[in-house]
Amino acid sequence: MADSQAQEARRRGAVYLDFQATTPLEPKALDAMMPYLTEKFGNPHSATHRFGWEGKAGVDVARKRVAELIHAAPEEITFLSGATEANNLALKGVLEAAPRERNRLLIAETEHACIRETAAYLATRGYEVTHLPVDGEGLLRLDALEAALDARVALVSVMLVNNEIGVIQPLAEIARLAHAAGALVHSDIAQAAGKIPVDVAALGLDLASISSHKLYGPKGIGAIYVRKGVRIAPQIHGGGQEAGLRSGTLAPFLCVGFGEAARIARERLEDDQAHVAALWRQAVDAFTEAGIPWRLNGSATRRYFGNLNVSFPGVDGARLLADLRGFAVSSGAACASSVGKSSYVLEALGVDARTAQATLRIGFGRTTTSEEVAEMTAAVIKAVRAQLNVTWRR
Ligand SMILES: Cc1ncc(COP(=O)(O)O)c(C=O)c1O
Repeated sequence: MADSQAQEARRRGAVYLDFQATTPLEPKALDAMMPYLTEKFGNPHSATHRFGWEGKAGVDVARKRVAELIHAAPEEITFLSGATEANNLALKGVLEAAPRERNRLLIAETEHACIRETAAYLATRGYEVTHLPVDGEGLLRLDALEAALDARVALVSVMLVNNEIGVIQPLAEIARLAHAAGALVHSDIAQAAGKIPVDVAALGLDLASISSHKLYGPKGIGAIYVRKGVRIAPQIHGGGQEAGLRSGTLAPFLCVGFGEAARIARERLEDDQAHVAALWRQAVDAFTEAGIPWRLNGSATRRYFGNLNVSFPGVDGARLLADLRGFAVSSGAACASSVGKSSYVLEALGVDARTAQATLRIGFGRTTTSEEVAEMTAAVIKAVRAQLNVTWRR
């Protein structure tokens, strides 16, 4: 368990509740990585001696474990630097390899910045990009998808679990519609892999992107799943590693840590899910019982319960965050919080701008305790009451 890291975080004066931004490294994953930083230093692509074979053996086991987590075959897994790179490769790789007459890309309005920005870049290269709307619960409007699909669509990209609001998109249905129009389907499963059961074949995915650091593995590594038979254009050229799809020497210690984290996530999936669901319920019950005004963003049922995105109408979001200094929560996606942008995800759900700024994204994970959730809810309730009482007196 990564308990010691959570305890360390507490010693530093904050309760960690930002598991969508990243997760602490599993100590067992770190243990598995260490030999590949010391004695097992060989280049995994050196085929002529035992140093290379040793590195390759570690990478092979890791690839198998990542594949098992999503019910793929090891040959369908390519290691790369993370989900950002995987998403870039998926979108650019599919569109560049598609027949000339298939030049359209459909993405959901609520995709991660690395999908939106890649799509925006592709639009500057002459591809046609369409953003598909979601409903008030954050779920993709299938009628809009159906209306947008035609014989010119090369790829539909919709994430499985949303990083800001935690909703689970109806991917199997999306894939069925897209395939009927002859399009390929990609999903950013960075927030889903290791958190909810994922079976890429059952979902009908042609490509999927995974990030190691979202599932208690090391940062700096991820994977792309490319279904057997799907051809995409590589974006990094060089020595032809990873079957020519992604050149560059692999880092066995990162692959091994990612693989071990994936193995543990698969083993713990049911327990982890039950754990975060209980914490989610505890937090929601506390807000309700306190009688403060609050609203849940995103579907209450079609969701990953490690994410709780809540707005407190009438409250000043910046002041609320300031009052919660002892808690590592966020007001949205980590990448947006650093540049102070408002949430395009909440906007897509129809949340008004004032309410959107009074929003917290609270993430629960493997190491979160019920006591931590009780402390957090008590602090939120106190801060919200303090602000609203002042407003009422005015
Ligand atoms: C849904 C989603 N996609 C992609 C990424 C980027 O992943 P990475 O940090 O591995 O590049 C993140 C993490 O912020 C994410 O939440």
